[in-house]
Amino acid sequence: MTLPASFFDGMYADADDPWSMRTRWYERRKYALTTAVLPRERYLEGLEVGCSVGELTAALASRCDRLTGWDASVAAVQRAGRRVADLPGVTVEHRAVPGDALPAVDLLVLSEVLYYLDPADLDLLLGQVRAAVRPGGTLLAVHWRHEVAGYPQTGDAVHAALRAGLDWPVVAGHEEPDFLLDCWVRAPAADLRAASVAAAEDLW
Ligand SMILES: C[S@@+](CC[C@H](N)C(=O)[O-])C[C@H]1O[C@@H](n2cnc3c(N)ncnc32)[C@H](O)[C@@H]1O
Repeated sequence: MTLPASFFDGMYADADDPWSMRTRWYERRKYALTTAVLPRERYLEGLEVGCSVGELTAALASRCDRLTGWDASVAAVQRAGRRVADLPGVTVEHRAVPGDALPAVDLLVLSEVLYYLDPADLDLLLGQVRAAVRPGGTLLAVHWRHEVAGYPQTGDAVHAALRAGLDWPVVAGHEEPDFLLDCWVRAPAADLRAASVAAAEDLW
């Protein structure tokens, strides 16, 4: 079963920053890898689903004219809102996938959020993702690989579903013992130039 918002409300009631995203080197390094992989220097409109306390949101802000963070937990929305209050163009909203349909965006970041969905909801979301990322836009997914008791899926299962369900050109796939990171550009599968950062600057 997909984990309900109440599960996360409980975590935020117990801890200000439940995953220590503000302080862990592990997270800072992963955010650096995440932003480094994004193929475009700037995006008009970005969306991060499951923004928690807003640390990754803040890291993405400098790459987007407008960036929205969504979270299913009211407490997370409030904390992320405080974190990004001074960052131009950034807003945070109380929304949960797949019930709240994804809007059209140029950049969609799904970081450490999809293993909370059961396979049926992940499948629903994947259908939304295919429509929401604008042609030429970027989808980035990154997820913890180790099994966590009570989570409906592992990160490996999530990325296997994404890889099987998307026929878009791949910008990069990054594998570590702890997490998987995959990045796609919405374009026809055979259009390898669409996923090439060098081609975008006419290097080939
Ligand atoms: C582990 S944090 C990820 C934070 C951030 N994306 C990052 O990578 O640092 C997961 C967040 O996703 C939120 N969340 C869980 N299920 C969700 C859903 N179905 N829709 C939106 N947010 C969700 C939780 O409330 C939590 O704040």
